[in-house]
Amino acid sequence: MSKNFRVLASVALAASLAATSACSSTRDEGSTDSGASASNLIGIAMPQKSLERWNKDGSHLDEILKKAGYQTSLQHADSVEQQITQIQNMINQNPKVLVVASIDGTALAPALEKAAEKKVKVIAYDRLINSTPNVDYYATFDNYQVGKLQGEFIVEKLGLKDGKGPFNLEPFAGSDDDNNAKFFFSGAWDVLKPYLDSGKLVVPSGKKPASNDEWTKVSVKGWKTETAQSEMDNRLNSFYTGGKKVNVVLSPNDSLALGIAQSLESKGYKPGADYPIITGQDADLANTKNILADKQSMTVWKDTRTLGDQVLKMVDSIVKGGTVEVNDEKTYNNGNKVVPSYLLPPVVVTKADVKTKLVDSGFYTADKLGL
Ligand code: BGC
Repeated sequence: MSKNFRVLASVALAASLAATSACSSTRDEGSTDSGASASNLIGIAMPQKSLERWNKDGSHLDEILKKAGYQTSLQHADSVEQQITQIQNMINQNPKVLVVASIDGTALAPALEKAAEKKVKVIAYDRLINSTPNVDYYATFDNYQVGKLQGEFIVEKLGLKDGKGPFNLEPFAGSDDDNNAKFFFSGAWDVLKPYLDSGKLVVPSGKKPASNDEWTKVSVKGWKTETAQSEMDNRLNSFYTGGKKVNVVLSPNDSLALGIAQSLESKGYKPGADYPIITGQDADLANTKNILADKQSMTVWKDTRTLGDQVLKMVDSIVKGGTVEVNDEKTYNNGNKVVPSYLLPPVVVTKADVKTKLVDSGFYTADKLGL
């Protein structure tokens, strides 16, 4: 952090102490006329449009920024190279702020040097951008907590605390180029590891990371549904012969859970008492329907509308020269610095509360879910 920035931050802190809640702090952006462009363009770089999450996040953010009077440039990318090109093009248009949900969190440093030169502020959206000083803020959900909720759900559903078991577990993790994936895995593994060590959870496929750091042993590149499906097919074909059944699948998110459920279905697993517990994340439409049909046990819902709202607040503070609210200044070290972050709380959704949580909040209409 530069000395100037530190001074600005402490001045802001003093000025805003009264207005700030106990668990959050603020950072001053001063005024933004220091060479930044006069436009009010906000660049939004999102990952694959084909993944429901990013499609929704992108259009929500675009919509609320426009409503607030900003011009926007929203781009989705299918590859790292495409995302870099999109970011370079956006920077050439002199935006005030760049909001980036990266495909590969380690690949954007060179592109962001240019942003810093042009005094374009950068907000990492949902996924941290690594190995660069040129990321100013990070807005996300508590990623470790997502995994912890999945792990705790499994412990509770299986009755592991009451000594039940052994159960057959198949663990999966997210894409190895996504900084969030190791947080999800660590959150879950910290909860499940004691039961693996005691033998109450066993992994017949042997795809069992010995520690949190070995999570890439079970990662699925690009969070692809088809890859998760074929990986699950392989595990079932090779290790679940002679009537052996899988009891629980740790899936880090919904795109993987979908492929895993398809694989189980193709091998004859049917919803009912013997159907495995499957975790998820995002409350994607197909998965929410699967939860209602007893083909997935839970999802960790991250109300991405609240993430968009938080980012809009950050953008406003930056552009209007206010203070940027953050509530975590220790967790997200990007290899270059700790990026001031705002973490939102994730929420477990099961069949019992699809209606109260997802429908009553307006995330889905009852109609859309066939309710
Ligand atoms: C997001 C998840 C999402 C995954 C795949 C992660 O970075 O935090 O919500 O399921 O990417 O798109």
